[in-house]
Amino acid sequence: MDVLSAEGRSAAGFPVERPRRLRRGASLRAMVRETSLEARQLVLPLFAIGGTGREEPIASLPGHSRLSPDLIVRTAEQAAATGVRALLLFGIADEKDPEGSGAWRDDGIVPETVRALRSALPELVIITDVCLCGYTDHGHCGVISDGEIDNDASLDALARVAVSHARAGADMVAPSDMMDGRVGAIRAALDEDGLQDTAIMSYAVKYASAFYGPFREAAGSAPGFGDRRGYQMDPANAREADREVELDLGEGADIVMVKPAMAYLDVIARARGRADVPVAAYHVSGEYAMLKAAAERGWLDEREATLESLTAIRRAGADLIITYAAVDAARWLAEEHL
Ligand code: PBG
Repeated sequence: MDVLSAEGRSAAGFPVERPRRLRRGASLRAMVRETSLEARQLVLPLFAIGGTGREEPIASLPGHSRLSPDLIVRTAEQAAATGVRALLLFGIADEKDPEGSGAWRDDGIVPETVRALRSALPELVIITDVCLCGYTDHGHCGVISDGEIDNDASLDALARVAVSHARAGADMVAPSDMMDGRVGAIRAALDEDGLQDTAIMSYAVKYASAFYGPFREAAGSAPGFGDRRGYQMDPANAREADREVELDLGEGADIVMVKPAMAYLDVIARARGRADVPVAAYHVSGEYAMLKAAAERGWLDEREATLESLTAIRRAGADLIITYAAVDAARWLAEEHL
C-alpha cells in the first residue's frame, strides 16, 4: 500500500487515491488552484492615429478602434478603472514613406500620445511598440535596400524610434521587428541619450504567424511584397526560440516575449525555464478574433473561453499577457470575486 514512486509519492492508486476529493466545491477548488489570472498581469494594446475625437472601428477586432490621443487617454482611464494599468501602444502613420521616417519623429503620433497619457495618468505603465511597419509604404518591419531588408541599416532607424518614444515618457519600449541585434542597438542608444531607466521588452520569440491577420488590417501594415518569413521565426522551430531568448537577454532585454500565445504554449514554457526575467506572451489579434467570431455565432461562451485561454497562457509560464481582451477579462475577474 505505501510503496513510494520515484517522485516520492504514494503509488497506492485507486481506491485510496481520489483526486476528485479536492474538486468538491468552489472554495476547495479555489484553495488548491495552481495558477492565478489577475488584471495586473494584463496589458491592453491600443492603436493611435492623429487628430482629435477620431475613432475608427476595426472590423476584424470587435470592440477595438484606431483612436486619436484624446480618446486613447479616455480608454486608458476606463481600463485603469478595471485594474488594467499597462498599455502597449501602436502608432499608425497617416503618411507612409519607404524609410518609415514618421516612426522616429519627436512630434510623431506615439510620442504625442505618450505625453498625453503621461500627464493624465502618471501611474500608467506605458509600453510602446517599436517597429517600422506601421510607417513604411511597403509595410515591412525594416529598411529595404536592393529589394531586401537591410538588417544593420534597420538597427539605426529602430534605435531612433525607441529613443523618440522614451524621450516622450514611455516606461518601456518593445521592439517587434525581429532584426538581429536590435535589443543591443536600442539599449546603447537609450543609454547614450540618458534614458538608462527605460526598459526593453523584446519580442524575443516572434513567429511568422497567420494569426496576425486582423492586426495588419488595423495597422494597414500587410507587406506590399513578399512576406515576413525572412525575419520572423518558422512556426516549426522551438530550439531556435531558446537561442533568440538567450541572445536578447545577452543584449539587455528586461522582459522577453513569446508571440503568438495559444499555439506556442510549449515555447512559453521553454522561455520561462531559461529566462530569469519576466516572460510576456502576446495573445494576438487572430486569437482574439477567433474567440469573438465563434462567440458571436453562439458557438463558444466568450467569457469562459477567454478566461480559459488566458489562464492556460499563464499556466504555461507567462508572467504577463498582452491581450485585446484585457478589459473584458478584468471585468469578468472582478465579478468572480463577488
Ligand atoms: C509589427 C507587429 C505585428 C504585431 C505586433 N507588432 C504584426 C506583424 O508582425 O505582422 C501583431 C500583433 C497582433 O496580431 O495582435 N511588427
